[in-house]
Amino acid sequence: MTNLPSSNDTPEQAPDFDPRDFRNALGHFGTGVTVITTVDSNQQCYGVTVSSFNSVSLNPPLVLWSQVRGAPSHQAFLNSEHFVVNILSEQQKEVSNTFARPSEDKFKDIAHHLCPQGIPVLDGTLGHFICKKEREIDGGDHVIFIGRVMSYSYNTSEDTAPLFFWKGKYHAATDHTS
Ligand SMILES: Cc1cc2nc3c(=O)[nH]c(=O)nc-3n(C[C@H](O)[C@H](O)[C@H](O)COP(=O)(O)O)c2cc1C
Repeated sequence: MTNLPSSNDTPEQAPDFDPRDFRNALGHFGTGVTVITTVDSNQQCYGVTVSSFNSVSLNPPLVLWSQVRGAPSHQAFLNSEHFVVNILSEQQKEVSNTFARPSEDKFKDIAHHLCPQGIPVLDGTLGHFICKKEREIDGGDHVIFIGRVMSYSYNTSEDTAPLFFWKGKYHAATDHTS
């Protein structure tokens, strides 16, 4: 076990973690994979692969995700009043890879349609949430976006499974009931 803080650490002191090792440690928490999308005032569309999505509150309906400040699309998400959370299915590994790299037109070969706010909603996902940005919170080298869900839709088919990300790799869901 490495990098456990000693009991006399003060909260103000930043522990001297090795960034790579800390990332590896965080990667032990498996997550689903989403693509968060938005649009700017020139109708330019943006989308980023995100595993930091989570639910926050049922009433009011709030969700969150966080974005590294240096991301090319970061300013667009800061400027935009809305974003859409698209939950990827296990068939959408390539979609995840497409939105995990900087590119001029990530949507070129990706099936999607626009929601009433003009933001891309990806086709073939497990579901999506159309959100109005409620708050931005300083999260160190990330910004945490909290969104209020305005509308949502999800796939009711029993056959659709989520894409998982764990320890830096994609995984498929397996049934744990038996
Ligand atoms: C599975 C996976 C999860 C990711 N999760 C996040 C995340 O939660 N926040 C983030 O800022 N970047 C995350 N990334 C990295 C972004 O997808 C990547 O930096 C992307 O290029 C950002 O889009 P942009 O270059 O158009 O700004 C993740 C990448 C992968 C492959």
